[in-house]
Amino acid sequence: MKLSFALAPLFAAAAFAQNVLITAPHQNQTVGEGSSITVSIERPDFQSSSEEVAVVIALQPCRPKCFPGEGLGKVLYNGPYNPEVHSGNTQPYQNFTVQVTPGLMGYAVLSVTHMALIGVSLLWRWWFFALKLSVLQAGPIAWTEQQNVTLYVL
Ligand SMILES: *[C@@H]1O[C@H](CO)[C@@H](O)[C@H](O)[C@H]1NC(C)=O
Ligand SMILES: *[C@@H]1O[C@H](CO)[C@@H](O)[C@H](O)[C@H]1NC(C)=O
Repeated sequence: MKLSFALAPLFAAAAFAQNVLITAPHQNQTVGEGSSITVSIERPDFQSSSEEVAVVIALQPCRPKCFPGEGLGKVLYNGPYNPEVHSGNTQPYQNFTVQVTPGLMGYAVLSVTHMALIGVSLLWRWWFFALKLSVLQAGPIAWTEQQNVTLYVL
């Protein structure tokens, strides 16, 4: 049996479940150059076996086109990510206050690069449930993903 082929979709699904959401600012929001904005990063709750590491929040001007995923542009925040449940919100999130690059004008891509460690237990459950296979895995795997929103800087 081709093990890696069979496990690939399950692995992708488990990894996909670790994605975060940018809930603020919203798509196409107008922000002032040099102003402070709140970037709200939500991590849906069902990911109990992932361990958060860090996020990098960056702002890349579009000249004139936006190419998310190419260069990060200016790094506005680089550090730990500790989403928490706040009252009135059912999903854990963390707010970051960052400064929009002074002198920037026009469209820009705000990206959030998210790093987490995906625990063995989650993958184990997926694999066992679907395939009834025993797979030995040494420790968690490192997981990185990127989300972005386009902003208009005035
Ligand atoms: C954002 O703006 C672009 C270009 O004006 C437009 O095509 C797109 O539909 C807008 N998206 C949202 C979610 O408003
Ligand atoms: C986080 O930011 C959002 C958007 O600005 C705001 O609605 C929310 O109240 C903030 N939460 C906390 C705990 O400051």
